Amino acid sequence: MGNTTMSLYRNSAWFLKGMTEFTRSAFLSAAKHFVEKDLEVSMAGRVFMITGANSGIGRATAMAIAKRGGTVHMVCRNKDKAEEARADIVKESGNKEIYVHILDLSETRKVWEFAEAFKRKYKALNLLINNAGCIMSERDVNAEGLEKSFASNVMGVYILTRGLIPLLEKSAEPRVITVSSGGMLVQKLRTGNLQTEIGRYDGTMVYAQHKRQQVVMTEQWAQTHSNIHFSVMHPGWVDTPVVAVANAMPDFHQSMKDSLRTPEQGADTVVWLAISEAAATKPSGSFFQDRRMVSAHLPLAWTHSSQLEQQKFMSVMEDLAKTFQPH
Ligand SMILES: NC(=O)c1ccc[n+]([C@@H]2O[C@H](COP(=O)([O-])OP(=O)(O)OC[C@H]3O[C@@H](n4cnc5c(N)ncnc54)[C@H](OP(=O)(O)O)[C@@H]3O)[C@@H](O)[C@H]2O)c1
Repeated sequence: MGNTTMSLYRNSAWFLKGMTEFTRSAFLSAAKHFVEKDLEVSMAGRVFMITGANSGIGRATAMAIAKRGGTVHMVCRNKDKAEEARADIVKESGNKEIYVHILDLSETRKVWEFAEAFKRKYKALNLLINNAGCIMSERDVNAEGLEKSFASNVMGVYILTRGLIPLLEKSAEPRVITVSSGGMLVQKLRTGNLQTEIGRYDGTMVYAQHKRQQVVMTEQWAQTHSNIHFSVMHPGWVDTPVVAVANAMPDFHQSMKDSLRTPEQGADTVVWLAISEAAATKPSGSFFQDRRMVSAHLPLAWTHSSQLEQQKFMSVMEDLAKTFQPH
């Protein structure tokens, strides 16, 4: 297949998959096979960190965990929004072990500082949920000169996870869950042009590439840190601000708004991955959708990358991350 035919095939296959698997009705039909008991567990004594916990999927996840007695560290960039969400979660769950930390994941040096300070202050972290994510409509750079979508969605996740791995490894039955997106199915890992300096800036495609990079990071971490259970997932198409207000996707939200999932439906697999015993029996590094392990590639798609390409990406990330590490 030529490049244009391939990309047409890939985009149509993706949209067809989305219409049959990512909508609210697809969730309801998948939910008929869910095992209700999987989520009937107490999380008392377990410590969770959730990024972007003030809104959408992250907030619904925080609420579900709070209701089961878990301690939740909400990592958010906006103090007012975070405190408001915290107050709602405490009120509705009756759980007071909910803490707010202010961090903008696009500020690379601050992510390092935050991870180091958290590790010094707290004795345990059982779960890290990398949920925060953003779509940029225009190319912009942070104080370190990194493109902001990359800084938030990739470098922020890399540094936070890498920085907290020693604490996770000291804690009981640690897990790391990253909320990726089905959008990554149309992207093959690219290690060149990490800062999108070359070519036109298409915010949706840049985001999709970053979501592919999250899948690769998860697969690689699973290989190098065998005592932590890693997973990465797609929540489906969910009615949240990231979709509604993203200038990059106004048409998508307008045309799909009646078929989008609720934040709770979008959070269902995150919660299942975070608390169920069933999830821990699945191989570490897997990709999930509606509580099922699924392929991270479309049939026939040329999105697979070799072990060597993936390792090269991780080594580029490590070198770049280290240049911003506090001494
Ligand atoms: N909604 C969907 O259809 C869909 C589909 C596939 C994947 N996802 C993924 O699901 C995850 C959660 O998104 P959502 O749908 O729940 O949207 P949302 O309600 O807009 O939540 C996104 C969260 O990320 C936070 N965030 C964004 N950039 C940040 C930064 N630089 N530093 C710290 N926090 C930041 C936001 O903070 P503010 O509230 O301050 O903006 C918000 O709390 C994202 O990773 C998204 O890519 C969503």
